[in-house]
Formats: sequence, C-alpha cells, structure tokens
Amino acid sequence: MRIVMIGSGYVGLVSGACFADFGHDVVCVDKDEAKIAKLREGGIPIYEPGLEQLVATNVAAGRLSFTTDLAGPVADADVVFIGVGTPTRRGDGHADLSYVYGAAREIAAAIKGFTVVVTKSTVPVGTGDEVARIIRETNPDADFAVASNPEFLREGAAIEDFKRPDRIVVGIEDERARAPMEAVYRPLYLNRSPILFTGRRTSELIKYAANGFLAMKITFINEIADLCEKVGADVQDVSRGIGLDNRIGPKFLHAGPGYGGSCFPKDTLALAKTAEDNEAPLRLIETTVAVNDTRKRAMARKVIAALDGEVRGKRIGILGLTFKPNTDDMREAPSIAIIQALTDAGAEVCAYDPEGMELAKGVLPEIEYADSAYAAAKDASAAVIVTEWDAFRALDFERLKNTMAQAVLVDLRNVYKPHEAEAAGMRYFGIGRGA
Ligand code: UDX
Repeated sequence: MRIVMIGSGYVGLVSGACFADFGHDVVCVDKDEAKIAKLREGGIPIYEPGLEQLVATNVAAGRLSFTTDLAGPVADADVVFIGVGTPTRRGDGHADLSYVYGAAREIAAAIKGFTVVVTKSTVPVGTGDEVARIIRETNPDADFAVASNPEFLREGAAIEDFKRPDRIVVGIEDERARAPMEAVYRPLYLNRSPILFTGRRTSELIKYAANGFLAMKITFINEIADLCEKVGADVQDVSRGIGLDNRIGPKFLHAGPGYGGSCFPKDTLALAKTAEDNEAPLRLIETTVAVNDTRKRAMARKVIAALDGEVRGKRIGILGLTFKPNTDDMREAPSIAIIQALTDAGAEVCAYDPEGMELAKGVLPEIEYADSAYAAAKDASAAVIVTEWDAFRALDFERLKNTMAQAVLVDLRNVYKPHEAEAAGMRYFGIGRGA
C-alpha cells in the first residue's frame, strides 16, 4: 500500500515508521521544515526507545521518506492518514481542530483517484463528517472515503503498542474504505490483533471513552490511596487485591501523583465538553478532571508535611520531571505543579531527569538542574521521586543519606517498600501506605 502520513509528531512518526516496517511504502509529511530536515539526516525529534533504529532501517530500505510537500505524495497515495496535533483550545477546553481541517483542505486539492482519508489524531465525534464535507467542498471531483482510526499507543512503549495492539478500531461510513484499511493492517491481524469495524462516530467515541475510563481508573486508585493513608491500609495491596478480579483487571491501578501527558488531560477535558454540549453530561469524567487537577498540588503539601510543615529555605531534590518514564515529554507533567507549589512555599528546588531536562528548562526555568539523582539530592532536606525512571529504582541509600541534609524520601510512585527504605535509615513517605 502507498501510505501518506500527514503530521510527523508522536503518533504520525511512530505509525509511519511501523507501517513502513510492515512493508508498506510510506511518506511522512510535516509543515515544519526544520523537523523534516532533521528526520532526513537521521535525527529523531522526540525521545522514544527504538524509534531511531526503526526509522533508519526503513529509510535505508527505501520504504520510508520525509517531505514538506503534501501534494505530490497524496496524489499517489491509496491511504492518507491525518496525524496532526489536536491541542486543547484556549478558553473552552474543546479540542482545537484547525490543523486537522487545514490538512483536509490541502489533501482535497491534491487527491487523484480513489483515496481513503483517515483521521488518526484523537478527534471529537463528528470530525470525520466535517473532514468529508471540507474535502467535498474544496474539490467536488475528489473520489474519496473518510475513515476514523484512533491510535492507542503509549509514549515510551509506542512501537510495541503499535505492533501488538489489543485491538485496531476502524470507523467507516463507505464500504469502499474497508478493503484498503484491511490491507494497511493485514500484518497486524495476522499477529491476532482483532480489527473492529464500526461506524465512524462510534470509532471516534471509542478513543475518548477508552482514555476517559483509564483516567478514571487511575483517579479512583489515587483516591483510594488517600483513604488508605487515613485508615491504615496499603494501596499496593488493595490494588493487587482488586486487580486480580478479572472484571477489574490489574493495569492502570498504580497510585501516584496524578496522570499527566499529552492525552489523558486533553482528552478527558474534551470528552466532558462534548458530553455537556450534547446535554448528556459525564459527571464521572468531570469529577475525574477536577480530582486529578487538585491532586498535583496536594502532592506538594505531602512533601511539606514530610518536612514538618516548613520548607522555606530548605533544598528539595526532585527525581524525575517527565509525566512518565522513557519519554522526554513534559506536557501536563505533575512535576510542574508540584515544583511550582514547593517554590511558592519558599523551597529551593534542584531536579534531575534522565531525558526530560532540556524541555523542562523551558517550563521550569527558575529551578536548579543537576546531572544525577545524587547531585539533585545534595544538601536537600528531602528527595522526592516524581517519575519512576529505572535509574531511581536501585538508589544507593547510603550515598544518598551522606549527601543529603536530612534523610527524607518522598516516593510519589511507590517505587520502594517502606520497610526497605527505613531499614536503610531513610524516613520514608509513599503514596497510600498507611499500613
Ligand atoms: C495514554 C494511553 O494509555 C494511550 O492509549 C493513548 O493513546 C494516549 O494516552 P500515554 O499518555 O503515553 O498514553 O501514557 P500512559 O502510560 O497511559 O500514562 C498516562 C499517565 O497516567 C502518566 O502520567 C502515568 O504516570 C499515569 N499513570 C498510568 C498512573 O498514574 N498510574 C497508572 O497505573 C498508569
């Protein structure tokens, strides 16, 4: 299949490289000339394990290329994916679809022969209808079908998630789109990933419902963690105890500082807005958004409480800044609100993150940065694990204690067992570990 991917961000680049790896002929398009120039030189604009090699292999094999020219590749394509950004629109919380619709207009002008146009970006219900309308309006002669194909990959595990998804969802309104979409995903369902064909609006809603549910699941266990602290229970065991029930399942039950990232915060907000606009409010999602927002600052209060209520003039070492490990992505990272609250309270913050510091410096320019966990904790009254990078999973407590002003460890990801940290002489504060 000849595939064009419009938008070479996270989803576009990973999907494009993986499709090429399946043997398809893929052209990735982006308006950002610097990004395309970098990709052409073999550079990768994001940090994602395995991606650089995957891109290099497929470029060398002649199956993957990068360009800023949309029209040429679209004219030759069987399937054109729209994988551009859909950020939260300022002011009202809706998804900003201007990039999606802009791409639709350009695609419309370039189409030759029957082409399937697919929205891969996370888009609100009804976007596919509007994309189809725009294409028809821009080019009444265009022969096309619009499909919805949401992407469920996670950052940090993107290639594995793309290649072995739990399911593939494709929403179509025109039967002519079915065979090309089956051909695009053929290598995957040979791997036994089920492909679910639905209506286009249903497919669009599936993505939001999935992310909404997962965000709610995390928020649920976070609230249970707070309760555990009050009643003397351990959230790790509660999580395991409920997760072993097949109806609940063990994943996304890890209590922490609240979810962040490029998807959950944006998608829960957009889902709540869509529901409100359609007079079918989703109270559970609205509450999830509110609870998660307040949680981040509550984590700073937890650190302050661990230091007997006073952090003014004290140094605090922050271990991990990105919203999760194995990414350099700082979008909506809990670390941002936590650090701001700590500095507001008068603390001096020094942070270390294995991959996120470059982007973090843009968001958090006021704090100090160190080049290791131990350097960040130097002279600190508390070390705070905010992101569970592997580099923080086997800390040398002796070394940490020797460099710190006070041996206090606040573990917002429950990386350690309280007794092991305490046995090593650290005062330990985890999440939901009241037992
Ligand atoms: C998510 C969805 O998982 C993915 O299907 C979708 O396509 C995009 O959004 P991603 O944002 O990359 O992926 O990361 P994910 O691993 O889902 O984590 C999201 C946030 O939830 C992180 O801040 C993470 O730390 C947090 N989280 C996750 C928890 O706090 N506890 C958990 O048990 C799981």
